[in-house]
Amino acid sequence: MDDGVKNISKQYLRMYPLKDINWKHLFDDLPLHDYDKLMNFQNKLLQSTIYHPVAIKYAPTREYSRLFLKRIIAQIEELNLEVCEDLYSAYSELLSSLPVTACEDSRTFYRTYYLPSDLSITLKETKAICSSGTTGLFTWEASHVLIDWCSKKSEEFYGKNILELGAGLGLTGLAIIKSCSPASYTFTDTHTEVLNTLKENVLINLCEDRLVAENISEEKCTDYKEAEVSILQEQKLCATFIPPCFQLVLIILCESWEKESITLGYFV
Ligand SMILES: C[S@@+](CC[C@H](N)C(=O)[O-])C[C@H]1O[C@@H](n2cnc3c(N)ncnc32)[C@H](O)[C@@H]1O
Repeated sequence: MDDGVKNISKQYLRMYPLKDINWKHLFDDLPLHDYDKLMNFQNKLLQSTIYHPVAIKYAPTREYSRLFLKRIIAQIEELNLEVCEDLYSAYSELLSSLPVTACEDSRTFYRTYYLPSDLSITLKETKAICSSGTTGLFTWEASHVLIDWCSKKSEEFYGKNILELGAGLGLTGLAIIKSCSPASYTFTDTHTEVLNTLKENVLINLCEDRLVAENISEEKCTDYKEAEVSILQEQKLCATFIPPCFQLVLIILCESWEKESITLGYFV
């Protein structure tokens, strides 16, 4: 697959904002193609996005797919080039299968993220920053920053017991497990719906049921004292999260005094 198509494929699977995709770069050479090459390119585009095996199994929202295809068709038409039949049929198929309400469409959908190593992680997500009374059903931008940092420091995680506080949908943890080979990884969160979705995401990506702990309360902190690395990544710390977190940090620090050092990832 050439780089342009490979890139757009990753962006589609991640439901990258359409306004931020570099369309011009993708279609720059198109007017230079002969007819067969033009049709070939459009088919490749379709197979690497809407009909990508990952998208068939773990689809983005249908509305996103529809807008994505609409944009591609418009770009080709703007260049006065022929749009291949399959693009039009895929678009009309999507139009006819659109759910009645936007809410129904966005209830269950998947995003697939590619790590710097090209490994992928597929997550069941929601679109709303805050839904069902939690901020945990949405993957926060801070995860991507943390993943970049972790992939450059994989030796810090290799063979260690890791504890994550407020793991949400699990992107950071899954990325560390896949690319840094820790000895163990404990995801924690407090919200039932977040925990259930997190379990599903762990199963999708690891084909095994890793331990997903529950609420980190002050009483439970000692259960996690074996952690050698703990990760907390939050844009906004909610008041109920602060006391158990600090309690836990104190316990781990005391425990690790005579053991190996620990690393704390902390983003505000
Ligand atoms: C802003 S979200 C961040 C989710 C994830 N780390 C991310 O970056 O995508 C904060 C998460 O912390 C969880 N949380 C809040 N208090 C908690 C506690 N006491 N123990 C464990 N998780 C908690 C929330 O349920 C929510 O999923």
